[in-house]
Amino acid sequence: MGYRPYVIIFSTTTIDGRIASVTGFSKLSCQYDLKRLHSLRAKVDAVMVGANTVIKDNPRLTVRLVKGRNPLRVVVDGSLRTPVTAKVYDTTESKTILITSSRANKEKVKYLRSKGVNVFILEDKGEGKVSLLDALKQLYRIGVRKLLVEGGGALNWSLIKEGIVDEIRLTISPYIFGNGISIFRGKGFKDIYESPKLKLVDLFKCECGNEIHVIYKVETHGNTNFTHRLI
Ligand SMILES: NC(=O)c1ccc[n+]([C@@H]2O[C@H](COP(=O)([O-])OP(=O)(O)OC[C@H]3O[C@@H](n4cnc5c(N)ncnc54)[C@H](OP(=O)(O)O)[C@@H]3O)[C@@H](O)[C@H]2O)c1
Repeated sequence: MGYRPYVIIFSTTTIDGRIASVTGFSKLSCQYDLKRLHSLRAKVDAVMVGANTVIKDNPRLTVRLVKGRNPLRVVVDGSLRTPVTAKVYDTTESKTILITSSRANKEKVKYLRSKGVNVFILEDKGEGKVSLLDALKQLYRIGVRKLLVEGGGALNWSLIKEGIVDEIRLTISPYIFGNGISIFRGKGFKDIYESPKLKLVDLFKCECGNEIHVIYKVETHGNTNFTHRLI
């Protein structure tokens, strides 16, 4: 047992829960939503994304649309598929941690370390997957108390499945993709008893007048007994 940061997932989806279309189109946020995201980035200690989000979107994960300090950036990439040229590995803007497994290419790890990226190599639990709870505990040890997760769907699902999400902030953008990447992309829960139970804590119309922002807290994590401490 150990401590972990408070985890908030922020995501902007179509009304059918997609964060990207079949072609990978993912620019769903209006200017107010983006500002809301940047304000939240400025309030947390670290921002986390999955490997595919780095590969597809190449985000900087810095605070640019509001005043505030840049958070630590955290990339979860068990097999180290992200390119070393990704913007998030430019440590002149902010610090970056790569969470990977023993499966990662050693030369690539060495190169990223030489660029100033802090690399955590965790146990490979199979096919390069690592325990995200272990990753969160390591982040807590270095001072991360509040963590913002910005997707994508597979990372969101892994965190929900491990029972380590405290809050979900969702912007519903007025589009329908019908297919594509779901906000939670994984094996799936079979019914509402397996699903986490969410409590609606806030809901408002976006300043643009055509989107809804909704905030849920995760009350319990379905059938599974999670014993690690929430803070
Ligand atoms: N609209 C929005 O708000 C929004 C936000 C973010 C992203 N997106 C979109 O979402 C899409 C990407 O989502 P995605 O579901 O494909 O991928 P993702 O969640 O960004 O990345 C998934 C990958 O991260 C690695 N990963 C996740 N959990 C891991 C774990 N426990 N251990 C080790 N590695 C782990 C895995 O790499 P390996 O497979 O190599 O193990 C996995 O395939 C993009 O199209 C992006 O544009 C949209």
